[in-house]
Amino acid sequence: MPDRLQLRFIKKTDPAGLKRIITLYRAQGWWRPSDTPRGLARLIKGSHCFLLAQRGGRLAGMGRAISDGAGDAYIQDVVVAASERGSGVGSKIIRALLARLKTDGITWIGLIAQDNSAPFYSRLGFRELKRSAPMLLKGSHV
Ligand SMILES: CC(C)(COP(=O)(O)OP(=O)(O)OC[C@H]1O[C@@H](n2cnc3c(N)ncnc32)[C@H](O)[C@@H]1OP(=O)(O)O)[C@@H](O)C(=O)NCCC(=O)NCCS
Repeated sequence: MPDRLQLRFIKKTDPAGLKRIITLYRAQGWWRPSDTPRGLARLIKGSHCFLLAQRGGRLAGMGRAISDGAGDAYIQDVVVAASERGSGVGSKIIRALLARLKTDGITWIGLIAQDNSAPFYSRLGFRELKRSAPMLLKGSHV
């Protein structure tokens, strides 16, 4: 029987844990040569919440939210390991983030659906904002 998926919010992790998270960022092309494990530790600590999905000690996926802690939040960095895609892990990550944000009293929840992932988010209750466009400061890393 396959190992059960475990979802866990973290505020910090050890060097081996950071390495596993970096592997996932890197696989998705979300890791620049200038990024560092120390910077990642700060990012985890500074996020409103940072969720790991683990199966049998391996990292199956992750996601996080940044927030003012009062009303608004953005979901970011949602990624599922290639070998785990298409079996509901991404949906579980989003549902767990939404439940956590709701518990924390956060009701305005936005995100940017990168790489044509909008249908994935639509199934989970998100809708496209009309007359709006995601924007990024020139020179920022995508
Ligand atoms: C997008 C992603 C997180 C989805 O995770 P997942 O575990 O494969 O998703 P699920 O298995 O929970 O899929 C739920 C549904 O969404 C659909 N779906 C999943 N990824 C999709 C995508 N990229 N585009 C459109 N639909 C998608 C699935 O087909 C499934 O539909 P079904 O219920 O009718 O079968 C994963 O594909 C991924 O890590 N992609 C690369 C990173 C990325 O694009 N992140 C999101 C952008 S910010």
